[in-house]
Amino acid sequence: MAQDIVKLISQKPESGRHPGALRILQITDCHLHANTEWKLAGINTQISFDWVMSLAEQQKAQTDLLLLTGDLVHDASPIGYRRLRQRVQEFGVRACCLPGNHDKPETLNAHMRGGLVDVPKQVKLGNWLIILLDSTQPHLEGGHLSERELRTLDKLLRDNPDRHALIALHHHPIPINSAWMDEMVLDNPRPFLSLLERHDNVKGVIWGHIHQTFETDHHGIRMLGTPSTCIQFIENQDTFGISTAPPGFRWLELQPDGRIDTGVERIAALPPGLDLKTAGY
Ligand SMILES: [Fe+2]
Repeated sequence: MAQDIVKLISQKPESGRHPGALRILQITDCHLHANTEWKLAGINTQISFDWVMSLAEQQKAQTDLLLLTGDLVHDASPIGYRRLRQRVQEFGVRACCLPGNHDKPETLNAHMRGGLVDVPKQVKLGNWLIILLDSTQPHLEGGHLSERELRTLDKLLRDNPDRHALIALHHHPIPINSAWMDEMVLDNPRPFLSLLERHDNVKGVIWGHIHQTFETDHHGIRMLGTPSTCIQFIENQDTFGISTAPPGFRWLELQPDGRIDTGVERIAALPPGLDLKTAGY
């Protein structure tokens, strides 16, 4: 790997974090595979993931948590998950995972636990609470939050009124101005958003799935979508299209007063082989 590929192209956050802040790196949509030679739209997803993790390594000393938000292993193979867990373990920072539509939640649960890696529903860090939701549905690409997930979310928020809350899930809970991708949006956003609106300690929602940067605000809650560690989709386009934007991750700095500072960092260039004519994924 050319070391110069793995350099920051976005603004580096100002010299480390603020006192008392917590730093999370969101790694998402890795689409790894049992076969490390496997490619998605011409990109070797293992190589792309390795390059993004090398970029993340530069921030390791300031990082409190890795958050892996689904589509971790495209073929949901046990060997793919075990290889991923090993790599995340080597990173040396506590890591939490949730499933995406390409994962099999039961296989992910079985192989992504142990050492520093886990598949929890909640993580308490400082005066923050991070809640991890499963928005997947068997054999469907779109998202849904079951009654059980919504009850869990409500209970965790009610039980922790003094903690600022960050909610993580795979699917986007609001449209992103991209018709083909918005067909795979969370299909029951209203109960989810209503619940968040009732708890004023909710400060942010983060997701994967959309393979692009997205940032907006919903009733004062930061709403954040994040690029994939492999291929990216063209933003604000109604039909499927692959972008030439390089892969990356999102960093979040959770401040003690409830503010969220955040940004996206990308590797300096695309891994070789991107096929822009790919018709779908
Ligand atoms: Fe994905």
